[in-house]
Amino acid sequence: MAIRTILTAPDPRLKKKSQPVASVDAEVRQLMDDMLETMYDAPGIGLAAPQIGALKRVIVLDIDREDVKTGPIFMANPEIIEASDEDATYEEGCLSVPEHYSDVVRPAKVTVRYLDRDGQAKELACEGLLATCVQHEIDHLDGILFIDHISSLKRNMILRKLLKARKEQERDEAEGKPAKPKTKKKESAGAI
Ligand code: NI
Repeated sequence: MAIRTILTAPDPRLKKKSQPVASVDAEVRQLMDDMLETMYDAPGIGLAAPQIGALKRVIVLDIDREDVKTGPIFMANPEIIEASDEDATYEEGCLSVPEHYSDVVRPAKVTVRYLDRDGQAKELACEGLLATCVQHEIDHLDGILFIDHISSLKRNMILRKLLKARKEQERDEAEGKPAKPKTKKKESAGAI
């Protein structure tokens, strides 16, 4: 397994549509394992392949909260086959939109069909944080970030701040300054 670099917005690769995998072969399993390790290292509770520059329809999740403990979940070609009329709002974050959080409204319950790490077809009924995470990760496969669900005013403000932070980081690196320590993530919101 290997820790891969997580792309951050506004990287054009995050806006691309990912392609389904033909089957879950050794290469896809390797990708899944790298993604899980990268997600744990970040740390985050979900990661989609395009976030590490692989435009494949693969996601990984592991939610470990007081009320929800899923263990590692691997999904290839995930598809939402059912969504509730009832909505839920969660404050979402994203490893590709570091240090920004916003409330996003999505269906409260979804059923997802996918291939697991052994290539077996599965269906999973999701609710609560798991439902939010699965929808957030599947969005990544279609080039959609959580900031695409919020007002353009707030989205543009976040993108401007991310660009500014990246320029500052590049300038510091060019000048040989040590990297700034990561600020602690808010406890309430998961980076997904
Ligand atoms: Ni994300």
